[in-house]
Amino acid sequence: MKFLVINGPNLNLLGLREPDIYGNQSFEALERFIRESCEKEEVDCTLFQHNHEGAIVDEIQKAYGVYDGIIINPAAYTHTSVAILDALKAVAIPTVEVHLSDISAREPFRNHSYVSLAAIQTIKGKGFEGYREGITVLKKYLLERK
Ligand code: DQA
Repeated sequence: MKFLVINGPNLNLLGLREPDIYGNQSFEALERFIRESCEKEEVDCTLFQHNHEGAIVDEIQKAYGVYDGIIINPAAYTHTSVAILDALKAVAIPTVEVHLSDISAREPFRNHSYVSLAAIQTIKGKGFEGYREGITVLKKYLLERK
């Protein structure tokens, strides 16, 4: 089983960025955590981070026929990007949306997610652990679908 894990803009600044919201751990620590979680679940995973919307759209398009599932934290594009939503719908690869913080308990503009319209589940407010849960949920979904 092959998963593509996508992290959007500014997540590369974890540790430095608003630690009261996102914690003190670095992005490298998050990537390690994701790799370890995938290994435990015996899932093959590729990690991709980009700050540009179009680069994320390109990566989703390239995922067609290559990956069984996508885990995505679209970061700020969650709340603005019809392009990322459309790309996910176009490739129709089962997707789980993850947010470190609880986007429903923050500023009103973070309450709405375009990406959730293409996701089988949205996990929010669980920090790094949300990615582990996302990997487990996606694996279970794919196994049950077969
Ligand atoms: C985020 C929440 C978004 O609102 C924000 O723009 C981010 C990170 C999260 O993981 O909590 O960059 O997706």
